[in-house]
Amino acid sequence: MNGVIGVFDSGIGGLTVARELASRFPAEEFVYLGDTARLPYGSKSPETVRSYAVRCTAFLARFPLKTLVVACNTVSSMALPNIAGMVSVPVLGVIEPGAATAVRRSVSGRIGVIGQPVTINSGAYEQAIKRLRPEAVVTSAVSPLLVPLAEEGWMGSPVVRLVLERYLAPVLAADVDSLVLGCTHYPLFKADIAAVTRQRGLAVELVDSASAVADELERLINAGLIKRRPDGGQGSIRCFVTDSPASFASVGARFWGAGFGAIEQVDL
Ligand code: DGL
Repeated sequence: MNGVIGVFDSGIGGLTVARELASRFPAEEFVYLGDTARLPYGSKSPETVRSYAVRCTAFLARFPLKTLVVACNTVSSMALPNIAGMVSVPVLGVIEPGAATAVRRSVSGRIGVIGQPVTINSGAYEQAIKRLRPEAVVTSAVSPLLVPLAEEGWMGSPVVRLVLERYLAPVLAADVDSLVLGCTHYPLFKADIAAVTRQRGLAVELVDSASAVADELERLINAGLIKRRPDGGQGSIRCFVTDSPASFASVGARFWGAGFGAIEQVDL
């Protein structure tokens, strides 16, 4: 039997990761869990994030998984060891793939990271980058307002531009040449971030952890560690949420595009 790919996130933002995976692996079957009743995770304590992550994993472990993708940067920075101990399939977080991509793309070794407070305060991206490139200079900044702004659909607005200018100031002052978008929501702001860096006359590579984790999944599949569904088949995504499916569907459209399949509400 060929299993399903489990993906979970604190809520809606993980759809940026699921969308990337589904477009790269269109024949695969995905089960997505968004813990919308408890989001945001990024401002909670590490203990709370770990306990939520364990509940999400226990839910997805009921499915015939062949791999588990932790789309949430906050959970990936805090709870991967707890999760890996609960399932017998490969567990992919977004931190290591994002860090590896930033290290590959950076010429100067000056790398920026933005994310939610838990992710940044954990130092997980910085440690992962320095493991690969010890002399790298990493400058990080928390950017929590970007999460509600993405969910409200304020991409391209002057408000977002002002918020970005403020959050990115220390990172751009450090003259980074690549910037890790260390939160599920930030790929929606790629054009806004590029506009701010351009305005400062800087050429900054934006590292999207959604495509980095898709690259990592591809590597594991090519290495024969995860079985691939034969090309040409029709893939699917089944979504579970812990709060209203209706609001997930309307906000989720900004992250996924039109129409995903069934959305069911569950209690973890
Ligand atoms: N999914 C979270 C992350 O990538 C952002 C939203 C939250 O804080 O729950 O860090």
